[in-house]
This record gives sequence, structure tokens and C-alpha cells, in this order.
Amino acid sequence: APDIPVANVTAHLNQLQSIASSNGGNRASATSGYTASLNYIKGRLDAAGYTTAVQNFTYNGQTHSNLIANWPAGPTGPTIMLGSHLDSVSSGPGINDNGSGSAALLEVALTLANRNPTLDKHVRFAWWGAEELGLRGSQYYVQNGGATGVETYLNFDMIASPNPGYFVYDDNPAIEKIFKDYYATLNVPTEIETEGDGRSDHAPFKNAGVPVGGVFTGASSVKSSAQATKWGGTSGLAFDRCYHSACDTTSNINSTALDRNADAIANALWKLAVGDTPTPT
Ligand code: PHE
Ligand code: CA
Ligand code: ZN
Ligand code: ZN
Ligand code: ZN
Repeated sequence: APDIPVANVTAHLNQLQSIASSNGGNRASATSGYTASLNYIKGRLDAAGYTTAVQNFTYNGQTHSNLIANWPAGPTGPTIMLGSHLDSVSSGPGINDNGSGSAALLEVALTLANRNPTLDKHVRFAWWGAEELGLRGSQYYVQNGGATGVETYLNFDMIASPNPGYFVYDDNPAIEKIFKDYYATLNVPTEIETEGDGRSDHAPFKNAGVPVGGVFTGASSVKSSAQATKWGGTSGLAFDRCYHSACDTTSNINSTALDRNADAIANALWKLAVGDTPTPT
């Protein structure tokens, strides 16, 4: 699988930060900062050749939107789907939560387009709206038939926490193994994700019977001394002390975690969707 250039992911995060700064300091769903974030991602995907669609839905009297991007090459099904929520809370710019997942997913999508490998599976990406209002975007998508044909759903929400842990969702053993094996090649120990259980956009897919997986670097839980010994960072401090706060800015990102997790996403996508290279004869 390709090595995702972390500098490109950081450049997307800088764009999301600047969007928040010029839209009242946040990118909350159904606000101008959210629309600008969606237009930024959509513009990059459209230019790379994706077939994109904006799915609007109503929640609490407001119009929210998901961005869905299908890669046109490869078979039409079954589908490997990867998603990240694009909305922030209203109290801050949401750069770790969840600019990090959104930006890494964008760069993986652009890399897939650029490499254009032979595919065994259809590949679809989603950037969800209204996650912070109760998983509304992913729930709407699944309730309206979106999970049909989806063989695997991978979720990325908070993947570059400033005092990071390396947590792998333990929802499906085969998917979990892909991420754990990848971290083993980096000699980075992992733990099972427990802090976020059921609290992100994989939940509606899991409830619909779709195998799900993902990685996470921790939110308001505090890093233990054992965790600081294996991962570095600061024990007795939250994985993300700026979780859901105004200080969740571009300063609230651990670049090493961002780099490792962007590469972990590409590795999982290639393992799940890209055909084996034919043996030269
Ligand atoms: N969804 C939570 C939030 O956005 C955090 C979370 C991340 C939960 C990853 C589960 C997995 O605040
Ligand atoms: Ca990389
Ligand atoms: Zn959040
Ligand atoms: Zn989140
Ligand atoms: Zn779990």
C-alpha cells in the first residue's frame, strides 16, 4: 500500500482550520463552516475523478448533509466503505475531532485516484454530517438503504490526539487483525478501543449487520503510566485535553499519530479492496 504523505494531510487540516476561523470559529453541522468544509473536500474529490453526491437530511428543523464519493473504477459491488464525520461541535474548530479523520480519508481517496490500482471491490467514501448531534448523518444514510452491498465499513474519528494512544476497534476480528498487523510492522503496541464504543458513525452500520472497524487515538480519558511507558506522551493527562473545546485547533494534533493512522487507513483499504498483483511469469 502507498505511504500517505502526512504533509498533504496537514495541508487539508490547515484548510479546515482556516475555514473555521473565517466562519465563527467552528464547523458545526448546518452552519456555513460545515458547508465550506464539505465544499473543500468535494472540490478535491471531483477534480480527482470521483463521482460525488451531497445527501441532505433534516434534523431538528435544520438541513444537514453527508458527502458520498464513489470511485468509478473497479467492480460495482460488493463495496468497501470508509467514513469520517466532518462536523465539529459548536465550541471549536474540531481539528482533531474530526478534521483528523476527514483529512486523512481525503488524502487516502486522492492517493487511490492517483494510483488507480486494479480493484477487487467497489470503493466508497463518506464524510458525515451531524455526528455530534447523535450520529444523525450515518444513521440517516443507513436507514435509507445505504448499507446495502456494503461488505465492510471502516470509521475514522479522532486519529491524531495530541497525547495519543493507539486503539483499534474490536468489533470484527478480521478487520481488527488488519490494523493490528499493520501496527505490529511499526512496532507500535495497540489496545482495544473501549472509550468510544457505540459513539461514532460505525454504530449504525454495525447495528445493520455490517462488519465494522477503525482506529482511534483517545478523547477525554486519561493516559495511564503503563500507556505512557509503551506509547510515550504524558501520563495523568487526557489523550485529548482539548476534546470538544475551542483549543481543538491545528496545535492539537500529533503528527506522528496522524502519519501512522493515515498509512494504516491506506494499508487497510489496499488489503480489503485492491487485487493481488499478478505474479510476473
Ligand atoms: N464520536 C465521539 C465524538 O465525536 C468520539 C469517538 C471517537 C467515539 C471514536 C468513538 C470512536 O465526540
Ligand atoms: Ca505516511
Ligand atoms: Zn466529538
Ligand atoms: Zn468525533
Ligand atoms: Zn470496542
